Amino acid sequence: MSNHAFVQRYAAYRRRVETYLRGLVRAKDPVTLYDPARYVLEGGGKRVRSVLLLSACRGVGGRVEHALPASAAMEVLHNFTLVHDDIMDHAQTRRGRPTVHRRWDENIAILAGDAMVALAYGALMQTPGSRIREVVGLFTEGLLVVCEGQAYDKEFETSRNVGVRDYLRMIDRKTGRLIAVSAELGGIIGGASAAQRRALRVYGNLVGRAFQVQDDLLDIIADEAEFGKRIGGDLVEGKKTYPLLRALERARGEDRRQLMRVYRKEPIRFSETARFRDIFRRTGAVDDARARIDRDIRTAQRALSALPASPDRDMLVWFADLLRVRTS
Ligand code: IPE
Ligand code: IPE
Ligand code: MG
Ligand code: MG
Ligand code: MG
Repeated sequence: MSNHAFVQRYAAYRRRVETYLRGLVRAKDPVTLYDPARYVLEGGGKRVRSVLLLSACRGVGGRVEHALPASAAMEVLHNFTLVHDDIMDHAQTRRGRPTVHRRWDENIAILAGDAMVALAYGALMQTPGSRIREVVGLFTEGLLVVCEGQAYDKEFETSRNVGVRDYLRMIDRKTGRLIAVSAELGGIIGGASAAQRRALRVYGNLVGRAFQVQDDLLDIIADEAEFGKRIGGDLVEGKKTYPLLRALERARGEDRRQLMRVYRKEPIRFSETARFRDIFRRTGAVDDARARIDRDIRTAQRALSALPASPDRDMLVWFADLLRVRTS
């Protein structure tokens, strides 16, 4: 298939998800609950997890209709994590708009997030077939693991003892798991064999890893308007990101002194972002991050050989490649 055909297929899956999501939040009152929930769910987003789920389902011979409720459920759950993540990270913008806690307030954002978890489970329970216990079990475990990842993410901010291995353990949880669950759920609903399920899980986990390393990189080098989030947020929040940990392994002198300010969560201003970008480039941390992304993507793609050849398997391969060049 050509690049154009993949783009078309992605768009078609995405439209199905958008339609399903619009039907999910129909209630009006209380407006302080449903308006923010709708604001988030109808505010764009790439719908990565949903599309992967649908594509994985088709890739093992299943039907989109059967996977649509779970696909929407994953998206709602993901959006819930973003609402609470933005409170935890003091983020002011997402998808180019004010975050929920800024547009309304923190209490409203907490509650809208809670309601979204319920909405996600409501959608998930619409999954047809006899595998529902397995589906809900995997989803529930995924949610718990994301919370573990987010807890590590926050703990690491004030820890002086975080290395690349700790970082990978953290991102496997906060980001890798939901993407892995998406791919595996698609497999389960589509009737995958045990080996195919395993392959989809491995694929999702590694794609999730690459996705988070790229997200960390974009926090420094992206175009703010395109990225939709404020550049430099991770520096200001003292996050132990992949580029930071890699740069620290190599930097000496003044560069190292600057990086240690982030590592120790000392006050950093957004206006200093450009300086850190230069340090990350100079020390080779940007190249290191890109190499890591490439490696994980290639391994993820290889895992897909357990699936029969099909346009959807090709699309999963294509999608992993797309991560390298994503700008938002
Ligand atoms: C953002 O996820 C959170 C991370 C795991 C980095 P996405 O980049 O998938 O966010 P949207 O849904 O497309 O806005
Ligand atoms: C995302 O981590 C992880 C989850 C939302 C669970 P980030 O904090 O890096 O995500 P962004 O950059 O705010 O989207
Ligand atoms: Mg975060
Ligand atoms: Mg964040
Ligand atoms: Mg980020």
